[in-house]
Amino acid sequence: MVVIEVTGLRKRFGAFTAVDGIDFSVEKGEIFGFIGPNGSGKSTTIRMLLGLLTPCGGGGRVLGYDIATQSEAIRQRTGYMAQRFSLYDDLTVRENISFYAGVYGLRGACAAERIREALETVDLPDIENMRASALSTGWRQRLGLACALVHQPPVMFLDEPTGGVDPLARRQFWDLLYNLAGSGSTILVTTHYMDEADHCNRLCLINEGRILLSGTPGEMKRSAGTRDLGEIFARIAQQGKENG
Ligand SMILES: Nc1ncnc2c1ncn2[C@@H]1O[C@H](COP(=O)(O)OP(=O)(O)OP(=O)(O)O)[C@@H](O)[C@H]1O
Ligand SMILES: [Mg+2]
Repeated sequence: MVVIEVTGLRKRFGAFTAVDGIDFSVEKGEIFGFIGPNGSGKSTTIRMLLGLLTPCGGGGRVLGYDIATQSEAIRQRTGYMAQRFSLYDDLTVRENISFYAGVYGLRGACAAERIREALETVDLPDIENMRASALSTGWRQRLGLACALVHQPPVMFLDEPTGGVDPLARRQFWDLLYNLAGSGSTILVTTHYMDEADHCNRLCLINEGRILLSGTPGEMKRSAGTRDLGEIFARIAQQGKENG
């Protein structure tokens, strides 16, 4: 079942084209990676899918809802961890999640149950009374994820969730993503860490607003004759430059 479908999506800021006509689709239960360097258009694409930015061309659907006309329905059914997500430093771990539960209209016993489940999902139940300001970066990312999934959305958009996190914490974070996808969640995740490309079921390499290559990590490596996705990316980006 196709959960996210994008065709010819385009975004210009003035004379600058940030997203230059991209096509991709994501199936239910997939971890789909959006891999590309700084400024390649990853965040802009996610913002268009959530209706936070208006496309200049093309379109898309999330869970069957049109991104141009039904973004409210999309936002209710998706989780979003923004690249620079905000936590309330003066609030505890539980209070932060509780805040987001309220934003999504969860109240009373239902909210309490969802918060407990979110804490368990991200493996933070023992520190629920700690203030957010006291958390390590890795724990902050996990709390950010808990806030994004407290309403149990079937689809999640995670924009560089592991930025600035140490290798062990990144690995633990990816284990959480595997568990979520294993229970049927669909996840679109962006990163510029090439090693994380290998963790995705399918991915696309994006550069200067264009998709250079997409497929499974295995397919990409076989067709390029290398085990190193970073090398493939560098090669294609270089070819692109030479061809103008
Ligand atoms: N509101 C805006 N106005 C003008 N230019 C913008 C705006 N938002 C993004 N851009 C530009 O569009 C390009 C793509 O930005 P985007 O944030 O989507 O990249 P990204 O792939 O998420 O990069 P990063 O890895 O640094 O987060 C960049 O050159 C950026 O400067
Ligand atoms: Mg970004």
